[in-house]
Amino acid sequence: SETSTYSIACIPADGIGPEVVDAGVEVLKTISSVSDFKLTFENYDWSSDTYLATGKYIPDGGLESLKKHDAILFGAVGAPSVPDHISLWGLRLAICQPFQQFANVRPTRILQGTQSPLRNASTGDLDWVIVRENSEGEYAGQGGRSHRGLPWETSTEVSIFTRHCVERLLRFAFETAQKRPKKHITVVTKSNAQRNGMVMWDEIALEVAKEFPDVKVDKMLVDAMTCRMVLQPNSLDTIVATNLHADILSDLAAALAGSIGIAPTSNLDPTRQNPSMFEPIHGSAFNIAGKGVANPVGTFWTAAEMLRWLGEEAAADRLLECVETVCGRGVLTADLGGKANTKEVTDAVCEEIRTQA
Ligand code: NAI
Ligand code: MG
Repeated sequence: SETSTYSIACIPADGIGPEVVDAGVEVLKTISSVSDFKLTFENYDWSSDTYLATGKYIPDGGLESLKKHDAILFGAVGAPSVPDHISLWGLRLAICQPFQQFANVRPTRILQGTQSPLRNASTGDLDWVIVRENSEGEYAGQGGRSHRGLPWETSTEVSIFTRHCVERLLRFAFETAQKRPKKHITVVTKSNAQRNGMVMWDEIALEVAKEFPDVKVDKMLVDAMTCRMVLQPNSLDTIVATNLHADILSDLAAALAGSIGIAPTSNLDPTRQNPSMFEPIHGSAFNIAGKGVANPVGTFWTAAEMLRWLGEEAAADRLLECVETVCGRGVLTADLGGKANTKEVTDAVCEEIRTQA
């Protein structure tokens, strides 16, 4: 059969973004060299420096250029010289929202060779996928400020929940749960205090659940959910929540799995009308940028998730196995208690891929 070629847009952006994206591209090139598909990469030099120089993160026509690609590999955006709400909305959300990447998917596991800060959790005890609503909710950008600086200054941050967006996201989350061995989903809301939007979520979840009779469903309030994640990690599998709630829960999940430096995120357009975007969960980490010590594992796992989305399941699994083998051997960066730098971990993973081929 014909060899598939996938065109990848890289947006390394700020801080450690370029360091981890370079490492990710190297690993992707290595895995494709021993597989029966091809990858091409195009670099987009959009960052906070671009914004400071031109007033824009994305130049005119930029989104149309991105649309030509099969997927986007993103680093991190955010710089000390630009307020975080400007950088986030200027680059990351400026891609996620028009491309309708409405499902943000965050798998978490305790990788071999790494340790959970939880005393009673080891590899296998914590194996979750968090599905986060990624298009509206608390991050819809609705609201305003009046009487700036005055004692009676007023601001609103309005959450938007639409049946259309909640339903499509819940259906995607149930499909995700159905594909996993445990077929178990926990629907997280806060429908005691947030008595409008969250009650609607609960109602729609019940409706969607009827389409998935083989999926076990349970329901949690977000505050109690934090306790359950810490105390009974084994009782959870797929987790679905709103934009804000899942944002917070997924950082907790990453920390419980060992480090923010290993966790991946997929921003998916499940309709596949637009390219989806893949990125490590972590930010631009300016405190360690330029030193060559950033943990590239989050980007490697991200790259694996990207391959999976492109249909290259076998390569995705193999890449993750190689990453775990290298971690298991103790080749770890400082955030995981090791002494290796970015290049050493990257070289070890590439070597492992070639050895296993
Ligand atoms: P951060 O994730 O950049 O850093 C938090 C802590 O984790 C720091 O101590 C950092 O050194 C460490 N860390 C993060 N990634 C690491 C890695 N790969 N290896 C080793 N250590 C790592 O989060 P922070 O400090 O809250 O945000 C910094 C900037 O990044 C801000 O401008 C923020 O807005 C932005 N940000 C961007 C995101 C994105 O582009 N998706 C996501 C989160 C934050
Ligand atoms: Mg976050």
